[in-house]
Amino acid sequence: MPPSDWAATIRRHVTSQTRLTVMTGAGISAESGIPTFRGPEGYWTVGSRSYHPQEMATVAMFRRRPDDVWQWYLHRATVCHQAAPNAGHTAIVALEALFDNRFTLITQNVDGLHLRAGNSARRTYQIHGNVFQVRCAAGCTDDLRPLPEALIGRAKTAPLTAVERELLTCPNCGDRLRPHVLWFDETYNEHHFRFQSSLDAATATDLLVIVGTSGATNLPNQVAWAVFQNGGTIIDINPTPNPFSELARQSPGGQFIQQPSGRFLPELIHEIQKIMADRTRRCP
Ligand code: OAD
Repeated sequence: MPPSDWAATIRRHVTSQTRLTVMTGAGISAESGIPTFRGPEGYWTVGSRSYHPQEMATVAMFRRRPDDVWQWYLHRATVCHQAAPNAGHTAIVALEALFDNRFTLITQNVDGLHLRAGNSARRTYQIHGNVFQVRCAAGCTDDLRPLPEALIGRAKTAPLTAVERELLTCPNCGDRLRPHVLWFDETYNEHHFRFQSSLDAATATDLLVIVGTSGATNLPNQVAWAVFQNGGTIIDINPTPNPFSELARQSPGGQFIQQPSGRFLPELIHEIQKIMADRTRRCP
């Protein structure tokens, strides 16, 4: 698609009143070196068996094999810790600065890279949690604690030591601590995962920019459909067609941009900055 097509959409649909929501998935962090969820590197071997994330990331597996689940998450936390935000993350920080209180970021990523890039915790809804936080597995409190730093950077396949197990014990009740992530056999809630806040943001959204997600989970689909049904514009950025591509095309002025986000998002922010500067010049 010639760049002028999406630029025309932006010119038509971005005003000083536009409420913007950006919704991201694993694809935005792919260019930071974090494997996507459904790519081949998502698998994890326990003994002689390879498990898919959908099997590992469950309460059921944590009950059966807590040490193995923790080993997997500590490896993921280490990979995320070693990664740095890329040009796509930086562009989304610039979008928040431009749209200010008309901006919401809904992310499925647990890697914390949006916050490290500079998006505000207030406007960033981490709807699947954050791998650098833990909470009591027995739910003795709802409090979130930071993942102890001593657990980051350990060897990928090293079994948990007694000291590490101790660090992963709830200081209140002595039960295990668990990663603060939404598992596949759990449901969203407002307190930990900003379920209602995400739907409220969707209802108020004029322009939804979807980045790097395969659209496989529930809340992101509800968000996209709410925006669509309210007549909002959707731009879907992904090198691969996905369930949101067609929805985007059917929305008013919507576009499917078949490009990596690290390449396209800086162009998008550049265009929006130009439009806003032009308008400020015209109406000082
Ligand atoms: P997936 O791994 O399912 O999808 C990643 C998407 O990113 C795919 O559509 C890729 O085409 C796209 N992609 C790859 N490289 C990209 C790039 N450079 N720029 C833009 N897009 C790129 O990951 P998610 O959709 O995030 O949930 O998965 C959603 C959720 O399902 C995850 O948060 C996790 C998972 O299972 C839970 O853990 C609850």
